[in-house]
Amino acid sequence: MSKFSALLSLLALIPALAHAQSAVWGQCGGIGWTGATTCVSGSVCTELNDYYSQCIPSSAAPPPPTSSPTTVSSTPTPTSPSSGPSPTDTPSAGNPYTGYEVFLSPVYAAEVAAGAAQITDATLQSKAASVANIPTFIWFDEVAKVPNLGTYLASASALGTSSGQKQLVQIVVYDLPDRDCAAKASNGEFSIADGGQAKYFNYIDQLVAQIQQFPDVRVVAVIEPDSLANLVTNLSVEKCANAETTYKACVTYALQQLASVGVYMYMDAGHAGWLGWPANLSPAAQLFAQMYESGGSSPFIRGLATNVANYNALSVATPTRSLRATPITTSSSTSTSALSPMLTSQGFPASFIVDQGRSGQQDLRQQWGDWCNIKGAGFGTRPTTNTGSSLIDSIVWVKPGGECDGTSNSSSPRYDSTCSLPDADQPSPEAGTWFQEYFQTLVSQANPPL
Ligand code: BGC
Repeated sequence: MSKFSALLSLLALIPALAHAQSAVWGQCGGIGWTGATTCVSGSVCTELNDYYSQCIPSSAAPPPPTSSPTTVSSTPTPTSPSSGPSPTDTPSAGNPYTGYEVFLSPVYAAEVAAGAAQITDATLQSKAASVANIPTFIWFDEVAKVPNLGTYLASASALGTSSGQKQLVQIVVYDLPDRDCAAKASNGEFSIADGGQAKYFNYIDQLVAQIQQFPDVRVVAVIEPDSLANLVTNLSVEKCANAETTYKACVTYALQQLASVGVYMYMDAGHAGWLGWPANLSPAAQLFAQMYESGGSSPFIRGLATNVANYNALSVATPTRSLRATPITTSSSTSTSALSPMLTSQGFPASFIVDQGRSGQQDLRQQWGDWCNIKGAGFGTRPTTNTGSSLIDSIVWVKPGGECDGTSNSSSPRYDSTCSLPDADQPSPEAGTWFQEYFQTLVSQANPPL
C-alpha cells in the first residue's frame, strides 16, 4: 500500500536546512526543527502544532488549528444522473456520520468468521469472532465486484427500514488504470495503454447506477488510495509520471459522478509519515485543492482520508523510538492539523477521516515508508465519531485487517521487495487475500484489547 521513499524525504529536508529564511509554506519551527526560524518577506511563521510551524503568506490568514473547519451551507445543485431517483440526501454541511449507523461489511464478516473458526484457543477465537461486528470499508478493487454493491445497499436499505436506524455504507473506490504506480503489490486490472481511462469511467458509471437506486442509504467513499499522494512525491517514477494526467482525469470523473448521486467522499491523502514532511505538505495541499475544484467544489467532496492501510497512531506524545530522527508530523492528528489550514486557504474546507484499523501497536517499522504487513501490528481504536478533533469526522477502519498488503513470493508478477523487508511478516499471500497468521496477530495485539 502506501509507498514512499525515505531517501526522497531526506532530500526534501535539504532546501529547508540550506536557507537562512524559510520559503513561503516552508517549515520555520517545531520540536526537533533545526532549520531557519524566520520566513521570507510576505509570510509569517505560524505555529500549527508543537512539531510544526510554517511560513504562511501574510494574506492567507489561516484559522488556528483547533478551530472548526469551514463548512459549506449552500445546497449543491448536483447534475442529475441520467435515470433513476435523484438523491434525497442533501449534504448536511456537517459530519456525514452523524445520525447514521455504519453498515457492517458482509464481505469482512464472512472472512472474519472463517478466520475465527480456524483458531483453536477458545479465548482468542471469541475475540477474533467479535471483529465481525466492527465496521470496515468495502473495497471495489475490480469492476467485477461492482454488482455486489447493489446487494449490500439493498440489505442496508432493508435494515434501515426494519430497525428505524438510517444506514451508512462505506466503500473504497480503487480501480485506477496503472494503479499503484510506485509499487507492484496492488497493480490493478486496467492499463492506460489499453483503454484504461474509458474502462475506469465505465466502472464509475456502474457504481453510480447501483447507488442511485438506494437514495435512502448514505454512502461514504474513500477515493483511490495512494494515487494522488504518488503524484505528490513519486513523479520521478516513470509509471507515475505517465499516469499523472489519467489519474487526474479519472479522479475528477469519480468526484463529479459520485457527487451527483450524493456520495460523501474523502480523497486518500497518504499518511503522516509520507505527505507529512515539510516539503510535501504544501504541494499536497495544492493538488488536493485543485482536485476539489476540478471535481466541482461539491459539498459532497467532504475532505481527505489519511492513514489508509497504514500504521500511524492518531496522536503520539513523542515521535516513536525507531523514527525519532525525523522532524515531521508524527501522527495522523498532527498531519491533519498541518494540512487543514493550507487546504482552507486554497478554498478546500476539508474534513478528515482517519484509518486506525491496524494502528494499535506503535514502534514496529524500520522506516516511515514501510507498508507491507508490518510485523506485530494490532487492531487499533474502534471506529467512532468521538475523535477529539473538530477536523476529524470519524476514526474508521478502511483496510479490512487480515487482508494482505502484498505477497512475499518473489516469483509473483505483483511481488514488491518491500514485502520481504525485515519488518514485513512472511510468508505472505497476494494483496487483498486473507492472511490468517496476520489476522491472529492483529487480534492478540489489539489495543485497546478485544
Ligand atoms: C489490495 C486490494 C484489497 C485492499 C483491501 C489492497 O492492498 O490491492 O485488492 O481490496 O488492499 O484489503
